[in-house]
Amino acid sequence: MYSSIFLIHKYSVLLFLLIYLTKTVLLVINKNELLQKITKAIKVPEMIISFTFLATGIYLAINNPLLGMFFWIKLVCVFVAIPLAVIGFKKGNKVLALLSFVLIVASYGLAEVQKAGLKRSYKKDPATVSSDNTILLGLAVYQKQCMVCHGENGDAGLAGAANLKTSLLSKDEKTKIVTYGKGSMPKFNHLSPQEIAAVVAYSETLNP
Ligand code: HEC
Repeated sequence: MYSSIFLIHKYSVLLFLLIYLTKTVLLVINKNELLQKITKAIKVPEMIISFTFLATGIYLAINNPLLGMFFWIKLVCVFVAIPLAVIGFKKGNKVLALLSFVLIVASYGLAEVQKAGLKRSYKKDPATVSSDNTILLGLAVYQKQCMVCHGENGDAGLAGAANLKTSLLSKDEKTKIVTYGKGSMPKFNHLSPQEIAAVVAYSETLNP
């Protein structure tokens, strides 16, 4: 459930960005007639996409226990950007429309920056990074690489995936399976040893 909502969220945000990019560009280069035509033509799909993006975002926020400061900055950016966009496009104000677009892109980029920053600090000095950050890095890797089969809670069992909640394997055995794969589980030897250690540590938090 979480993983499919996560994907729907991601793609609806991307579509939303695409629509806004198109509209902002048209406004900036003074193609007002075309802008109005497009705005009219995509009015309903745009409403559906915006609704999907907000609704899935709220679902993810409620179901993710690890919301850091970045999440709140992201939220503020989105909620400042939306009225700016509405006013900007209504009045044909390029500055407001651009500002709103930048805010929305920034909030999308923040999640990626946060992940990259965590990875960097972890690589630089793994020993000094608190265990909280290990779990956060593990969560980031898990959402990207593992959730499609194991699901949010580790027990989705998609594609025949083993239940991580009830796994009796040791840390070493899990590390081996993640690194070299097993049966229909792919190998993840393209991840760094730190990322593998973090995702294994995260997978153990699923085990009550
Ligand atoms: C394509 C689907 C798929 C993906 C993606 C996937 N797994 Fe798996 N995983 C499986 C399957 C299938 C098994 C069972 C393998 C077997 O025993 O034959 C499994 C087994 C495991 C096990 C062994 C559990 C046990 O008790 O037997 C662990 C640990 C594990 N996966 C962790 C991960 C982690 C961590 C990731 C992400 C880095 C991941 N998996 C990504 C499908 C997947």
